[in-house]
Amino acid sequence: MKIVLAKNSGFCFGVKRAINIALDAAKDNRDIVTLGPIIHNPQMVKKLENEGVRSVDNPDDIDNQPTIIRSHGVEKEVKKALIEKGIEVIDATCPYVSKAQQHVEALEEAGYKVVILGDENHPEVIAMRSYVKGEAIIVASAKDLPEKKINRVGIISQTTRKFEDLQKLVSALLPLCHEMRVINTICNATSVRQLSTIELAKKSDLMIVIGGKNSSNTKMLAKICENLVKTFHIETSYEIDKKWFNGDLNVGLTAGASTPDWIIVEVYNKINKCMGNNTDIVKNVEDIPGFKEE
Ligand code: F3S
Repeated sequence: MKIVLAKNSGFCFGVKRAINIALDAAKDNRDIVTLGPIIHNPQMVKKLENEGVRSVDNPDDIDNQPTIIRSHGVEKEVKKALIEKGIEVIDATCPYVSKAQQHVEALEEAGYKVVILGDENHPEVIAMRSYVKGEAIIVASAKDLPEKKINRVGIISQTTRKFEDLQKLVSALLPLCHEMRVINTICNATSVRQLSTIELAKKSDLMIVIGGKNSSNTKMLAKICENLVKTFHIETSYEIDKKWFNGDLNVGLTAGASTPDWIIVEVYNKINKCMGNNTDIVKNVEDIPGFKEE
């Protein structure tokens, strides 16, 4: 049996940065909050809690503690209100997400009706929408578009969406408008992870997708794999069932952009142990066959 990790698996640049910002802040202060879980990974959130970085869902629950804005960003008004209250704001918004927020604002100022491709309930999209003073149109796919003419359209995307979905949205909107501006805000980290995962899934008998069940990019990886091969989406090694690995299988591993390295390592080692292979146990993600950082 062979176990291979998809290239570019695990933490992306923005998540790594946010975690480092949080850990650095925790060195000087053991009472810090993040507005919402810093990343969509319950195990990492727990680890940060042990370092004194706690997640709160409601800004009203912040009692003057330094507050970290997570990589998805936060609504414009919420950030402003925190600053006005004199709370120290530590902004760990991914720079690519901040850039998308600036684009949204600029599109509206230039007179475009803003159309956002994304999940309207996702924190990144909620934050993005807050940069539009009027009404933005938010669609999960081209099928959700209202059937009405729009004069000038400015299209932008949640950073984790699929490029083909953006292409479909552009094609669907073109006959409905006179002028269109498209800003491709899809993050390379997402597409690179998806492409490496597809490449590996095609060569594998079984794919194990590792990451938060609440992480949209991990769920997307699981969906992609399910279309190609038998797939299990797990958060930790505890969910692994020995029965999955009957026979001489090529097992592919992949992990979302918010999955910590140590969880990938635990999963790899557990699968090896399930197969009675105690010689290929690794300590670092870099030691897993297939590993390659972007
Ligand atoms: Fe940023 Fe891209 Fe990650 S937008 S948070 S580097 S998936």
